[in-house]
Amino acid sequence: MTRPSGTTEAGTTGAAAAAAAPGPGEAAGPARLAGRTALVTGASGHIGRAVCAELAARGAHVVGTRHGGEKRAALMLDAVAAAGGTGECVPLDVTDHDQATALLARLRREKTPPEVLVCAAGGTERVPALRAGPGTGRRAWELNVAGATALAAAAAKGMLRRRFGRIVLIGSRAGVAGLPGQPDYAAAKAALSAWAASAAWELGRFGVTVNVVAPGAVEADPHAEEAVYTAEEDRAVTERVAVGRLATAAEVAAAVGFLCSPAASYVTGQTLLVDGGARF
Ligand SMILES: NC(=O)c1ccc[n+]([C@@H]2O[C@H](COP(=O)([O-])OP(=O)(O)OC[C@H]3O[C@@H](n4cnc5c(N)ncnc54)[C@H](OP(=O)(O)O)[C@@H]3O)[C@@H](O)[C@H]2O)c1
Repeated sequence: MTRPSGTTEAGTTGAAAAAAAPGPGEAAGPARLAGRTALVTGASGHIGRAVCAELAARGAHVVGTRHGGEKRAALMLDAVAAAGGTGECVPLDVTDHDQATALLARLRREKTPPEVLVCAAGGTERVPALRAGPGTGRRAWELNVAGATALAAAAAKGMLRRRFGRIVLIGSRAGVAGLPGQPDYAAAKAALSAWAASAAWELGRFGVTVNVVAPGAVEADPHAEEAVYTAEEDRAVTERVAVGRLATAAEVAAAVGFLCSPAASYVTGQTLLVDGGARF
């Protein structure tokens, strides 16, 4: 497979910045990821699917990953096609670093290394603080943090060489404000923000940015077999959200799309809350 046309390799850090940022008077148009490969973990999920559609609409070739969800992977491919893009959805267990490195090696061999990485794979379990133990903490860590940061580090090496990269980790408002009943999950998401703020320092001068998008409560996936939160819980949260409703996955994806764009070249190490102005 040949490298998508239009991908540039700038020679110096300064050139990288110039290549990444829109020129004077140039609109930061939605298609500014044309010719770049975007790797999205958790692409079969609700938010991951919307992120894939957003990046496809911006012109990226999207390589999504799924864990179990073959049916949901088909929905992701439909969403990418509807956005006018191209993509594939491959199996990946993010807690198995060998699988992740094998996927990166394949993309490198095919000359389509990811210049954009969005880590949307993740999830929570309801384990209250008094019942939490080493097992629960380890599960939350491996799924939400260890897999994402190891993949980001491995992908970043290629980005450094190309002097362009966008890494977005999907955190959660829980990582900023805490979440009763899910302390391990909240702690894991908080760790992502600390990792991004740290890695941003190491990668910034090479044109690679690292940010976290931290959604608040998102509407349930209409395609999910079961909702994570009850209607009662959704109502209670909505009352404390300035916007007066839950987020759509597309609204989360729009924030991700901006941070992945060349136009976001001077935003790094940040955690962007997409929570509708929640106060609780
Ligand atoms: N929804 C919300 O309200 C909300 C709020 C804040 C933050 N978030 C965060 O947003 C991210 C996406 O959540 P979502 O709502 O889209 O959830 P979702 O629909 O359940 O999607 C989760 C995704 O993670 C994948 N996954 C699970 N275990 C995996 C593993 N071991 N290896 C690789 N992939 C794995 C799933 O794959 P399969 O489906 O193929 O098994 C799926 O693609 C998560 O990190 C979540 O913590 C969600």
